[in-house]
Amino acid sequence: MPAQETNRRCLAVILAAGDSTRMKSSVSKVLHPVAGRPMIAHVVDALAKAGISDVALVLGRDAEKVEAAARNPAVRATTHIQTERLGTAHAVLAARAAIAQGYDDLLVVFGDTPLITEAPLRAARDGLAAGNDVVVIGFTAADPSGYGRLIVENGGLAAIREHRDASEAERAIRYCNGGLMAIDGRKALDLIDRIGNANAKGEYYLTDIVEVARAAGGRAIAVEAPEAELTGCNTRAELAFIERLWQERRRHEMMLSGVSMIAPETVFLAFDTAIAPDVTIEPNVVFGAGVTIESGAVIHAFSHVEGAHVRAGAVVGPFARLRPGADLGPDSKVGNFCEVKQATIGAGAKVNHLSYIGDAAVGAGTNIGAGTITCNYDGINKHLTNIGENAFIGSNSALVAPVSVGNGAYVASGSVITMDVPDDAVAFGRARQENKQGRAPVIRDRNLAIKAARKKAAE
Ligand code: UD1
Ligand code: CA
Repeated sequence: MPAQETNRRCLAVILAAGDSTRMKSSVSKVLHPVAGRPMIAHVVDALAKAGISDVALVLGRDAEKVEAAARNPAVRATTHIQTERLGTAHAVLAARAAIAQGYDDLLVVFGDTPLITEAPLRAARDGLAAGNDVVVIGFTAADPSGYGRLIVENGGLAAIREHRDASEAERAIRYCNGGLMAIDGRKALDLIDRIGNANAKGEYYLTDIVEVARAAGGRAIAVEAPEAELTGCNTRAELAFIERLWQERRRHEMMLSGVSMIAPETVFLAFDTAIAPDVTIEPNVVFGAGVTIESGAVIHAFSHVEGAHVRAGAVVGPFARLRPGADLGPDSKVGNFCEVKQATIGAGAKVNHLSYIGDAAVGAGTNIGAGTITCNYDGINKHLTNIGENAFIGSNSALVAPVSVGNGAYVASGSVITMDVPDDAVAFGRARQENKQGRAPVIRDRNLAIKAARKKAAE
């Protein structure tokens, strides 16, 4: 019976105390984002989805920040500080107090393996339920360098050899340790306590548990999972590779759920991007965190969308920027070179060209002319602009907030509006035009005379 369907108690230990040396970063690598959220949060999320609610975090540098980044309402986490970096086995022992609480299944996962999903976590536990003492999740690496190699004999796992300690022949093995391991919870501390540090790095390798368990008469196996779930992050190049794999996976899921993408490889999603079926996303669109796009909306090419709600049938871009708090009503339009921030755009309203709408409400059916700017900031405070329904704001108008424009009102092009405009009023906020009859030839003749004089002087 799969482990999850019995009442086996499970603790997951997440190792995240490493120094992140190879990242060459001023912060712990598990804080680096994948799809806009810290790597460690992806790992905790996968555990929560696999129904694992007890987690022990093993932390070193940036412990407080990592603890905060790992917070998840579905998980009870304890924190354990590994004060010296003596290897992955030593790191697991930092969580001794948690492990000693008595669990059937102990899972060890790495904070730097953010693509992990529910399936291999479940598979590892199933391996324990089937009577193994150690279950290692492996993968076949396109490029195995840096990973521990899995040495399989007679269907069992004989040993894991770290890259640095491997012989030429062992290095040719492409079946690698994914860093996810399940250990019999009752035996785990005893087995890990027996691990030594006689290896190239002089570290206590968790991977040695395989040989230790076998020497004690136990059974170890490896279970294969896709590389795309087990790729580890040690360098910025690997971080970019992981981002790519994450994006490919999520785009694929979205397309299968009914979202059209013309060139999916150019669309970048955030961890929480929510897009309904029958939305079309054109090429080169970037989503930041906190976006919801409802059915039938179209996001044209080269738009950047973050913290925004785009309601059914709305059209965005090309070249639009939606910032946090942008809420576009049904069938509304925000067109090219427009920026919308902390503003609601009513149903069917149009902001089609070259505008900035910030800290504002635009009523249903209103048309915002090209180049309209809400002047929301006076250098100290932000102020609101309120525009009613079915209003018309002429092109190149500046609406100096706080200000309101009533329902059905017109604002003449080029106006600077500093006073409220009542419903159905027409507001002119600019000097009236004056035409000087016959004046153009006078100016033209004068200019020609100047040009001629210059030419003569140059001769
Ligand atoms: C490790 C495995 C390797 C596997 C690879 C998969 C060991 C000895 N090696 O190698 O077999 O193929 O992961 O990605 O286990 N950590 C601590 N404290 C320490 C050392 C490490 O908390 O003292 C943490 C790190 O923060 C990291 C994880 O453990 O999250 C793995 O450590 P890392 O140094 O990245 O191991 P690898 O060399 O990648
Ligand atoms: Ca690693």
